[in-house]
Amino acid sequence: MPGFTHHIFVCCNRREPGSARGCCDPDGSEALRSAFKAELKKRNLGPLVRANKSGCLDQCELGPTVVIYPQAIWYGGVTLADVPRIIDETVIGGRILEDLLIPAEKLNQPRE
Ligand code: FES
Repeated sequence: MPGFTHHIFVCCNRREPGSARGCCDPDGSEALRSAFKAELKKRNLGPLVRANKSGCLDQCELGPTVVIYPQAIWYGGVTLADVPRIIDETVIGGRILEDLLIPAEKLNQPRE
């Protein structure tokens, strides 16, 4: 069995309201991850493409955060409306969505 062509990790971390860093899933609904699962199913992309919920990916200030491996594509500010085009453009089409991309120089910046 080949490995995943795309393994999508969707941050579903929740922090208490008022947290300094914020979080990617403030209402704890995991709606973003559910949307990825539904869109993948609609396109019959399993089992080679998978979306899993993840804990904090440590890019909270840029969230909601999604990372796709093995391509190591980091997307930030992801909304439910972005999910179909992430699947169509990035997963199927192999194109980077520049408006969502977290550039490498912005990843893992020191926190104040
Ligand atoms: S809470 Fe999502 S990256 Fe930290």
